[in-house]
Amino acid sequence: MIRPRRNRRTPAIRSMVRETSLQASDFILPMFLHEDGEDTPIASMPGVTRWSLDSLVREAGEAHALGIPAVVLFPKIEEALKSPLAEECHHENGLIPRAIRALKAAHPTLCVITDIALDPYNSDGHDGVVQRSERGELIILNDETVAILCEQALCHAKAGADIVSPSDMMDGRVAAIREALDDGGFQDVSILSYTAKYASAYYGPFRGALDSAPKDGDKKTYQMDPANFREAVRETRLDEAEGADMLMVKPAGPYLDIIARVRETTTLPVAAYQVSGEYLMLKSAAAAGWLDERAVVLESLTGIKRAGADMILTYFAKQAAGWLAGK
Ligand code: PBG
Repeated sequence: MIRPRRNRRTPAIRSMVRETSLQASDFILPMFLHEDGEDTPIASMPGVTRWSLDSLVREAGEAHALGIPAVVLFPKIEEALKSPLAEECHHENGLIPRAIRALKAAHPTLCVITDIALDPYNSDGHDGVVQRSERGELIILNDETVAILCEQALCHAKAGADIVSPSDMMDGRVAAIREALDDGGFQDVSILSYTAKYASAYYGPFRGALDSAPKDGDKKTYQMDPANFREAVRETRLDEAEGADMLMVKPAGPYLDIIARVRETTTLPVAAYQVSGEYLMLKSAAAAGWLDERAVVLESLTGIKRAGADMILTYFAKQAAGWLAGK
């Protein structure tokens, strides 16, 4: 009789037949920062902090020491610096360029990834430039936005970013950013594209963390419809053709089918973002004593990797790396 249970009989056998294993090197830690000298706990994301520049450097160093290769930075920008054209996003002495320089100086081997999108800097709270039609309709201008994203990417590259990561979902931005980086002499700066980024309610806690929720309307004319699958294949082919180095699916847990399909469609590395709402669900259930935090977090990350992700952006990166190291 064929008995699949023989392969599950002992821990030793299970470890030999295990198809997916998690490592700290799979993780990318998203980090929030602000101009303030004080660190501020983020109310909408228990256990996550918005750091001062000094603390950011210290915390990133701790993460790196645990084997986490990369961080991705998200700034909270003061209201007074926000504008309709988001000029602050390519200010050479802005918060992000200063953070990149400080991180690279303190931790030269840490991979620094930056988010390319206008929302933290845009007085309208959208990822692109907002215009109103005569009928009062909200229009997010594509090509005008892409030109600003190129400036932002160049600004981050000049400051020393290893990877720029456009999360805006404008059309044609990967090709335009690639060209701007190459023309600027930054052939070695990579693009991690948010290829299949869905218009998800799971981003709610993140927008609270940065005060970056859209002032008006929603993001459905640029982020993808959660009901769509084939469209992710289309976006994958486009980003690959435009020269992306790595592709991302976001959110992760509710979109494992998309991760698997993107994995099959491309030979590029695939990243998945376990977003703020996914984090919050697990954290709050664990805090209530309803789920075993360590077990469910590691299981959720294993599921994301099993689906086909090579890299996982997760707010649990440090905790998970600690657990994997037996701490
Ligand atoms: C915005 C951006 C968002 C996230 C990452 N970059 C929010 C949004 O698109 O509204 C969400 C991350 C998370 O929820 O953890 N460019």
